[in-house]
Amino acid sequence: MKKFIDRKFCVAPMMGYTTPYARTLYRILSKKTFLFSEMIATKTLIHSKNTQSIIANELQNPIALQVGGSEYNELKLSSKLAYELNYDEINLNVGCPSKAVQKGSFGACLMQDKSLVRNCLEAMQIYENIEVSIKCRIGLGKKFNYEFFEEFIDEILKSGIKIVYIHARNAILTGISPKSNRSIPPLNYDFVSKIKSKYPDITFILNGGIDSIEKALTLSKLHDGVMLGRLVQNNPFCLKDVDKFFYNDSKNYIISEKTIKDYFNFIRPKLGKDSIYRLLSPLLNIFFGIPDSKQFKIDIHLKMKEHNFDILEKIFLKFVNENKLLIN
Ligand SMILES: Cc1cc2nc3c(=O)[nH]c(=O)nc-3n(C[C@H](O)[C@H](O)[C@H](O)COP(=O)(O)O)c2cc1C
Repeated sequence: MKKFIDRKFCVAPMMGYTTPYARTLYRILSKKTFLFSEMIATKTLIHSKNTQSIIANELQNPIALQVGGSEYNELKLSSKLAYELNYDEINLNVGCPSKAVQKGSFGACLMQDKSLVRNCLEAMQIYENIEVSIKCRIGLGKKFNYEFFEEFIDEILKSGIKIVYIHARNAILTGISPKSNRSIPPLNYDFVSKIKSKYPDITFILNGGIDSIEKALTLSKLHDGVMLGRLVQNNPFCLKDVDKFFYNDSKNYIISEKTIKDYFNFIRPKLGKDSIYRLLSPLLNIFFGIPDSKQFKIDIHLKMKEHNFDILEKIFLKFVNENKLLIN
């Protein structure tokens, strides 16, 4: 049996950002936010030696593993791994427009072959108690085309999946970078509302251009849920308000010395196994928008070069102590 999970607020999968370390910080700040791994190619997932450290799920539930691929057997094996690692969901990436991803026959280019996507999603459904979902765009190219989007959704839903994350802009597969593909194609949230009215029993999560918690809250009332990427990339500490605003918790999380201690307790055993930058980078965003934090930043970068973990922890603790009001 699948357990019910409220996906009212989701953190988008972001390669290089939603690392196991960042996800741990997100989970410290919010117990309810639905998390995503970075996208991982099925081939890498199955064959790479250090995959386990990338996809390890250390009590970060509720969480989805996002994969990129279009080979049925690889997708099946990926579902098996997601199940063994206690993920709640496995998600197929049909939204990434990068050249490398197109070469590997996955990502947004798969929107051109809706029956292949349906078969992929069918292949992934090997366990009853793990959800299979998709993250896609609303179309391809420069022009909006609702029929194309509707026909795509009609077909993929025949696979039996119940959750669709929609980055509500087209993907342009040639001539612009993945980064520009997150801003140049215009947003169109109406496509998401329209498809929802056709499929009221399917969960459609809105993604794209939601750049404040206030906007997210308004949109979460109009849709089944919202997914945020860059806002959390730039300032993960905004997650401290999510449990209260989106899940009706009585209190919001207060950032304190405990936040820093909890995070260091998690990363300390990993020291030497991964780069100090990857371990600490999620925490560096604590300086986001705080005036006069330049000296702290200089100290942190200096001590990072010296790999001096205990002193680094003390600097963060001092910062939190001195800026309690500003960061909360
Ligand atoms: C640095 C970065 C990496 C991303 N990596 C992925 C990824 O691995 N998988 C994916 O489906 N989308 C990826 N995306 C797209 C986001 O999941 C999201 O769809 C997009 O940023 C739009 O949401 P936003 O406007 O809230 O940022 C990435 C975005 C960024 C900024």
